[in-house]
Amino acid sequence: MPMTIKAIACFLLTLLVTTHASLTLATARDISASLPEDRRGQVLIYGAYGYTGKGIARLAADYGVTPVLAGRNPDKLRAFAQDVGLPYIPLSLDDHDTLVTVLRHFELVMHIAGPYTFTAKPMLDAVVEAGTHYVDLTGENHVIQAQLERHAEFQQANIMVMPAVGFDVVPTDCLNLYVARKVSNPVELRLLMNNEYTAAEGAQISRGTAKSGLELLSRPLLMRIDGQMIEVDKPKTLTREVNGNTLNYVQIPWADMVTSWVSSGVPTIEVYQQQAGAMPDWVFWLIRREWGKNTLAWLIDQFFPEGPPPEAQEKRQVQLIATATNARGDSATAEMITPEPYLLTFHSALIVARNILNGQWEAGFQTPAKVYGPDLALQIPGVVRRDL
Ligand SMILES: NC(=O)c1ccc[n+]([C@@H]2O[C@H](COP(=O)([O-])OP(=O)(O)OC[C@H]3O[C@@H](n4cnc5c(N)ncnc54)[C@H](OP(=O)(O)O)[C@@H]3O)[C@@H](O)[C@H]2O)c1
Repeated sequence: MPMTIKAIACFLLTLLVTTHASLTLATARDISASLPEDRRGQVLIYGAYGYTGKGIARLAADYGVTPVLAGRNPDKLRAFAQDVGLPYIPLSLDDHDTLVTVLRHFELVMHIAGPYTFTAKPMLDAVVEAGTHYVDLTGENHVIQAQLERHAEFQQANIMVMPAVGFDVVPTDCLNLYVARKVSNPVELRLLMNNEYTAAEGAQISRGTAKSGLELLSRPLLMRIDGQMIEVDKPKTLTREVNGNTLNYVQIPWADMVTSWVSSGVPTIEVYQQQAGAMPDWVFWLIRREWGKNTLAWLIDQFFPEGPPPEAQEKRQVQLIATATNARGDSATAEMITPEPYLLTFHSALIVARNILNGQWEAGFQTPAKVYGPDLALQIPGVVRRDL
């Protein structure tokens, strides 16, 4: 019962803050004069005061990017923008006309506000009209699939839309394409992920990632099999023997099933994460009920830390092992060791942004390894790859 009262109080407070915030959001009429005349080289980071947006904004200068920051909450936005000394525009995704007006002054928007189930479409509708290139960090398969289906529209607008330019999926997409190219006519890609290759205290996921995970897991479980996304009852499991130890892996609905399909054309793609056991059935039962999902999202907001602290970012490493196999049974395997996923994301998103500003882009829906090649991930500090 105390939890319910706290939930209602929290909801009312959120409503008050949002109502207040909307009073000071930019409108189409008052904004144009203060924005850059020439859009070339101009980057807008939307969702800039979230955990990942902050990390990208702080690192932007290292990649020659001087962004304008944007987000829906004027107070949070102003506080962060003043802290880093960057210009800012409070902006709601619900105000299409103002979004378009603002985006017309930018060459690229880095869309860092999620869950993308709710945020991707309004931004995409606006970039199509404004003619602004778009990158995001979604790992939600249904969102990426919806973007893929708008490929012709993005081509027509002469913009590049490249989702998932973070840990999910830059290194995996690159490693998948790398092994796929070593085998003639590959029919299967299998990627194994060990998030605790080098463990670090406090290396948890951010609130935004946890809530985006709820959106993914609340939907039917789809896996890439023979060129189709097919609904399955349960994720598969497998084991590996390494130095006398048995390692357990569980299949996960990683975005590679859409993005690496586009990058490599390999028809069956399986991604597994090393973990002690599969998620219990009751978790799926809970997430698939609207009230259960909302309760979990509320708990995430209350009790999850913002994201991994700098010490964990510096220490943690992830191991990826990808294998491509063809119908004859020929295969190629390679390993990639990456830095901590959020730290990697700050760099990979900015590397892609810099490429776009340098004129390296292709119109339409695109994936990182398809446009920039399998060595793109090697530009990220701390990433190494070797053949096995
Ligand atoms: N692909 C990858 O490897 C990768 C890596 C990092 C992050 N991500 C994804 O990036 C997203 C952001 O992550 P995060 O760590 O920064 O999470 P976060 O700290 O929770 O920040 C989320 C940001 O999104 C904003 N937002 C949420 N819903 C919005 C809406 N309807 N309209 C406008 N703004 C909205 C939030 O603003 P308010 O505070 O006002 O709600 C906040 O600025 C998540 O979807 C996460 O999964 C992916």
